[in-house]
Amino acid sequence: MKSLKHLPVIIIMMLVSLACQMSDSSDKISGVEERVEQLLGEMTLDEKIGQMCQVSGGQGNEESIRQGMIGSILNEVDPENINRLQKIAVEESRLGIPIIVARDVIHGFKTVFPIPLGQAATWNPELVQKGSRIAASEAASTGVRWTFAPMIDISRDARWGRIAESLGEDPYLTSVLGAAMVTGFQGDSLNGETSIAACAKHFAGYGAAEGGRDYNTTSIPPRELRDIYLPPFKAAVDAGVRTFMSGFNEVDGVPATANKYLLTDVLRNEWQFDGFVVSDWASTWEMINHGFAADEKEAAHRAIKVGVDMEMATTTYRDNIAALLKEGALNIEDINQAVRNILRVKFELGLFDNPYIAEEKQNQFARPEYLEAANLAATQSMVLLKNEQKTLPINSSSKIALIGPMADQPYEQLGTWIFDGDTTLTVTPLQAFNKTFGQENVLFAEGMPISRTRHQKGFRKAIEQAKNSDVIVFCGGEESILSGEAHSRANIDLPGVQNELIKELKKTGKPLVLVVMAGRPLTIGEISEHADAVVYAWHPGTMGGAALADIVSGKANPSGKLPVTFPKVVGQIPIYYNHKNTGRPANPDSWTQMYDIPVKAPQTSLGNESHYIDAGFIPLYPFGYGLSYTSFEYSDLSLDKEVYARDETIEVRFTLSNTGEFAGEEVAQVYVRDLVGNVTRPVKELKAFERIDLQKGESKTVTLTIPVQELAFTNIDMKQVVEPGEFQLWVGGDSNAHLTTGFVVR
Ligand code: BGC
Repeated sequence: MKSLKHLPVIIIMMLVSLACQMSDSSDKISGVEERVEQLLGEMTLDEKIGQMCQVSGGQGNEESIRQGMIGSILNEVDPENINRLQKIAVEESRLGIPIIVARDVIHGFKTVFPIPLGQAATWNPELVQKGSRIAASEAASTGVRWTFAPMIDISRDARWGRIAESLGEDPYLTSVLGAAMVTGFQGDSLNGETSIAACAKHFAGYGAAEGGRDYNTTSIPPRELRDIYLPPFKAAVDAGVRTFMSGFNEVDGVPATANKYLLTDVLRNEWQFDGFVVSDWASTWEMINHGFAADEKEAAHRAIKVGVDMEMATTTYRDNIAALLKEGALNIEDINQAVRNILRVKFELGLFDNPYIAEEKQNQFARPEYLEAANLAATQSMVLLKNEQKTLPINSSSKIALIGPMADQPYEQLGTWIFDGDTTLTVTPLQAFNKTFGQENVLFAEGMPISRTRHQKGFRKAIEQAKNSDVIVFCGGEESILSGEAHSRANIDLPGVQNELIKELKKTGKPLVLVVMAGRPLTIGEISEHADAVVYAWHPGTMGGAALADIVSGKANPSGKLPVTFPKVVGQIPIYYNHKNTGRPANPDSWTQMYDIPVKAPQTSLGNESHYIDAGFIPLYPFGYGLSYTSFEYSDLSLDKEVYARDETIEVRFTLSNTGEFAGEEVAQVYVRDLVGNVTRPVKELKAFERIDLQKGESKTVTLTIPVQELAFTNIDMKQVVEPGEFQLWVGGDSNAHLTTGFVVR
């Protein structure tokens, strides 16, 4: 029971709460600051330290919650249990401060959407926002009110397992879609009952892990940090994200979890972020391993000093704050500030006013409209990479040999981070094909039980089925566990004997459609030569099979576009579209393939340009790439002006025509190059895009806008500026867009 001495506080809180409910539902709920200060004034040091501690699981932590020694719990998802723990916090602790329950709701809760990299391939912010809204609604119905998403680490390395969780390689696309996720998770108002606080992670630079090895050191020049890695985080702040997570990695020798530049100078001072920052799992403690802190006390000190408000999983805060205060290494204002930030978000979430999840609102999962949205997201995420002789779509009367280790794997198609994903909801390709094409027309054989199988015991049946079919659909890729955290790969081919099986199947002479379900770009260049069509399906989530059946049957027209460059071979990594030109850019006219170099050729025979003599300089597929069953043409590109002032907006106008045989959707993309800068500038940068649907034969005039301020970059003096000068602009369906014009900024 709360002591009577706190009655006035409770009454004040109730009145303020009433006032809040009567006022508009903006995120900055009025009265929050007063409530925070009031409460802070009542707290003992131990209670303050408690707010800064997050533990995994409630079991066994009941007494600590009662003592006010825990501010947050992660990994509880049972509403009754969450209510039980919350009741201890609210009704049995001295001050009744609610806990905030967190979970990695990364791409869905029970209803699983495509992995974030797949969602990025939709280039559809509304749909991405909807996916996060649905994920939040399902999660909030268990009492989870905080997710560790979106993950907005720019990722240029397909070896890195966590590329699956990212939104790809481009700062602009990641900014737009990351912001959409924030809005989706947090809803119109943070205190809405289906709203959960979002978390921009991992601040910052984690995606640049050297060699793609998870947790590795990064080497990011300060200007690149500003222009490539930080923009999505700034966009998340602008979208109102309420929490941040510091990364595991170091940035130029300083672990992200004690990085003053990132966490204090940029996040708090420059961006004025007033939510709270949580460490990553044990990332405070790991600073000892980094060789940045001698012991736990120093680790806690360093993290708190730069503004990591809450510690996840380890207990360096709990065990050392009191001593650090006593020694004078920390002062009470350091602690107050952290607690303030945490309480602020708890108030905004309405946790003080509505701490429990009502019984009738519990476990609201997998509504028909949720599954429909997951289906649409999966459909729009799938990228058609190749379609020779119009192999796709497949005629409805065809006999299909459905083969492969991912063709009927309810779990494996869900992807990484699906703690709560419900495999009983999964629609696999086999289930969906049976429905769409009729069971009698689908000849199934897995060929290999899992993607890593190294024996050929299943080949015979698979080849038999292929022989009896009109067309083969091979569903391969990598199982869920082969991507995600700590699952980096040095070799990103199709694992196991998939390549061998595909080659055997192709020997039947039947057309072969290769469907790849994977958490990253795989080096499928060579094996694709044995396929007539290739669909890149990522890990498509719950409705992946249904979406694939729609695409294969032509009920849906593919419209996904790659959010990341696909390398031909691992040795090309890092390879990304927005690279620098160099003094000796690669040139198709002078590039010579290794085997074509004459014996004893003179040293300059290769053109002396930036390329590989074996792998060239062109990726397998460029950023933004994706085919459709129809064809699109871009024409009549014009800008509203030739010369722009820096406060103006560029209006890009062009005609997009559907010149093929089907209705379809195209993601039109606008790229810009700043021709000369006082530091070198990328050869192209995405600056605008839009998904446009066109009936067969239809043309539309499209206008996209780019505020000139969007052309700013970090100059030689580390200032964000738009430099006057000439720019080139392209419009098209991928980053190799050809239709071009120029403009000047003065
Ligand atoms: C990951 C985070 C995640 C956290 C909590 C860490 O290992 O890096 O992204 O949110 O665990 O599960």
